[in-house]
Amino acid sequence: MPGSQELRGGHETCHASADHDHAFGLRGSRLEPTFEHPKVLVNGAGNAHRVGTLYGPPMHHFDDIAERATTACLDYALERLRDDPAPLDRSVPYDELARAAGQNITAAGRAPEEVLRVFKEVLARACLSTDSPRFLAFIPAAPTKAALVFDTVVGASSMCATSWLEASGAVYAENEALRYVADLAGMGPEAGGCFVSGGSAGNLSALVAARDTAARARGSRPDRWRVAVGEESHSSIQSALRVIDCDPLVIPSGPADRMTGDSLRAVLNSDPDPSSICAVAATAGTTNAGIIDDLAGLSAVARDRDIWFHVDAAYGGAAMAAPSVRDRFAGIAAADSLVVDPHKWLFAPFDSCALLYREPELAQAVHAQHASYLEPMRLAGEWNPADYAYHLSRRARGLPFWYSLAVYGTDAYAAAIEQVLGTTQAAARRIDEVDHVSLIRDPELSVVLFRRPGWSDADYFEWSQCLLREQVAFILPTSWRGEIVARAVFLNPNTTLEIFDEVLETMR
Ligand SMILES: Cc1ncc(COP(=O)(O)O)c(C=O)c1O
Repeated sequence: MPGSQELRGGHETCHASADHDHAFGLRGSRLEPTFEHPKVLVNGAGNAHRVGTLYGPPMHHFDDIAERATTACLDYALERLRDDPAPLDRSVPYDELARAAGQNITAAGRAPEEVLRVFKEVLARACLSTDSPRFLAFIPAAPTKAALVFDTVVGASSMCATSWLEASGAVYAENEALRYVADLAGMGPEAGGCFVSGGSAGNLSALVAARDTAARARGSRPDRWRVAVGEESHSSIQSALRVIDCDPLVIPSGPADRMTGDSLRAVLNSDPDPSSICAVAATAGTTNAGIIDDLAGLSAVARDRDIWFHVDAAYGGAAMAAPSVRDRFAGIAAADSLVVDPHKWLFAPFDSCALLYREPELAQAVHAQHASYLEPMRLAGEWNPADYAYHLSRRARGLPFWYSLAVYGTDAYAAAIEQVLGTTQAAARRIDEVDHVSLIRDPELSVVLFRRPGWSDADYFEWSQCLLREQVAFILPTSWRGEIVARAVFLNPNTTLEIFDEVLETMR
């Protein structure tokens, strides 16, 4: 093919016509060289790796700037990965950032080292490091080093993991990682799905699948679809219901603050229109307190009533890998859909949520997008991740998780999760031992709620800000039954009891 660049594994026999220049649209000015690159480009090892005429502007080639940007960025990435432990860092007011970072995007462009310097010295330090063992707020993250560095590899690989046709290798590996999660849950050999950006996107996609499956079975739509949810279900469930215009049917918590099969049955028995309930959305590990709903009881009621059973295990699902608490997830195997976020407690970088369906073809019937230009993608058969959620183009965001699982092995994951559970229990016992704070409830997973008697609401918020300022910890208050209390989330195996002791000392 005259004038074309060398193709990897070039396919000499695939031309549709002898006049292939014409067939492939290579005539005319479109592929005239717009820039000449007379010199041979040389890689870091000193090997010439591309010779000849290149098309397109230099920024799309591995030119000098790319070489310098790559060296600078990979050096920085290595330095950041070697931060052990990573500093907590802080959030910075806009004016301060604007003064220090200034205007970086210009018409002419800037030296790659200089732009990276702004990122390294100003912008990166204005971002909390979620992998710091002192990050105990929200739901933290604790990506392994192998997972983090593989994220860089995924970025450099420039693949679009929408379909098997485009990225069969990536989809194969992602599916291996999804299989690990499905097996933890015991969902059976047919279970499958895809990775989406997070629990919010996973919950939304699962509930859309639930509603449309119910609509097909019913053959009609009620005035309003409803989804049975627990009082402590995550805000993303409420948000998803707003997006799909469904109403929540809130099931009052039973004993131990969990949604139970008994309370669900009682509500359904007295409901005037149970056929308008298209799903039960249970939570395996509530965000605020780490509570696991009565999955066995709920799944039995959902099965009896032929209602889709969704489990939001975005945070807590990882603990299925820990033998010491696995029995608390009994019933999860019956989930019609399940969400587990590896970017939470499965030690993957943001953003990654494993979305699984027991019968993936039900989700495919709902989510697969059809367009004339897309249909060829289905010729490759196999598995198209785009078919299982509300998305199309997608990063192969399951790969860092896959790489880390493959490198360290699943036993290491189980051990790391057990270690976090152990630290959480030790922290709870410490609160019991000292007399200036008190434990609110025994932690089921890795969230600890505790109060400092005598403190006002404002005291909690001031204390939290002071701890971040002093880089002791990032820990935020929450509310529990109307009372402002302290909340610590353990998720990083490097968070020690000593760090938590430091936190408790600041509350005297
Ligand atoms: C139980 C639960 N579900 C859903 C979400 C939302 O996940 P994401 O932030 O990844 O969208 C969270 C986040 O903390 C969560 O804890």
